[in-house]
Amino acid sequence: MPHFLDIHTTDTDDLTTMIAEARRMKDARAGLPKGTPDAEQPLKDHMVALIFEKPSTRTRVSFDVGVRQMGGQTLVLTGSEMQLGHGETIADTARVLSRYVDLIMIRTFDEAVLHELAEHASVPVINGLTDQSHPCQIMADMLTFEEHRGPIRGKKVVWTGDGNNVCTSFLHAAGKFGFDLTFTGPETLEPAASAMAFARDAGSKVVIERDPAKAVEGADLIVADTWLSMHDAQSARERRHNQLRPYQVNEALMQANGNKALFMHCLPAHRGEEVTSAVMDGPNSVIFDEAENRLHAQKAIMRWCLGR
Ligand code: CP
Ligand code: NVA
Repeated sequence: MPHFLDIHTTDTDDLTTMIAEARRMKDARAGLPKGTPDAEQPLKDHMVALIFEKPSTRTRVSFDVGVRQMGGQTLVLTGSEMQLGHGETIADTARVLSRYVDLIMIRTFDEAVLHELAEHASVPVINGLTDQSHPCQIMADMLTFEEHRGPIRGKKVVWTGDGNNVCTSFLHAAGKFGFDLTFTGPETLEPAASAMAFARDAGSKVVIERDPAKAVEGADLIVADTWLSMHDAQSARERRHNQLRPYQVNEALMQANGNKALFMHCLPAHRGEEVTSAVMDGPNSVIFDEAENRLHAQKAIMRWCLGR
C-alpha cells in the first residue's frame, strides 16, 4: 500500500517524481481562480478523510482545496469528535474508515498512531504531522527551494533553534535529496539521533554548531520554527525562550550569512521570537511560497498514493 508516512521511508525516485509532478500541476493552473477545477480530474469520485488531532490552518485548507481541484470530495474530522478520541481503537477506526473513503490524511500526536492506522487501513494513509515528523511540509519546502535556487543537491541548509519534528523531516530530506544540514541550537534540543544518522548514512554532512553566526556561514537556506511545538508542554515555555533566544533569526544573523540564503519557516510563526518581522517580510523570505506549495506538493503526494 503506497502510504506517505515519512520521507526517509519513501523511494527516492518517487520523491523526485512527486516534486516534478507538483511543479507541473502548479504551472498548469497559473493565474486561474483558486476554485477552478484542474483540467485533469484524477480524484473524480474519490472521497478523502482529513483527520486532525491537533490544530491546523495550512494543512487543513491545502489538503481540502487540493482534493477539490482534482475532482474529489473531503470529510474534515477532528479527533475529539470521533470515537477515536473516546476509546475506539486506532485499528478499528482504520478498518471502518477504509470502508467509506479512498484515502486518509491524519495529523496526530505520537507517530505510533499513524503507523497503527496505516497498518490496519486498506487505503493509503498520509502523515499530516506527528510529534516526530512533518514530511508534507518538507516536500513543499523542496519544491520551494528548487523554484528559487535550482537543485538542492549539494547545498547547505541551516536549522536554527529546536531540533523538532520539522527538523527531523529536513534531515530525512537531506539524506534523500543530497544536501548538507547544520543544526544550531542548544544541546538539550538537538535533533533526533536517528534522523541525523539517516542523513549521514546517506552521505550528507550533518554538523552541530553552537554559534549561530558561524553556523550560517555559506548557507543557502536558513530555517526556523516555533520554540514550542504543539506537542510541547506550555510549562516548558519560559525555559525554552531563555535557551533559544540566542538562536533567533534576525537581520544580524542574515548579515552574518552575507544575506545570501533563502529564509524558510513552515508557519505559524511567532514574530519577534524565533524570527523577526524584518526577516519574515524581507527579500530572502519565501515563507508564503512554502505555504502555497503545500497545496501543489500534497496534490502530487495524493496522486502517488492513489496511483493516479
Ligand atoms: N505548516 C503547517 O503545517 O501549518 P498548519 O499547522 O497550519 O497546518
Ligand atoms: N513544530 C511545529 C510545526 C507546526 C506546523 C509543531 O509541531 O507545532
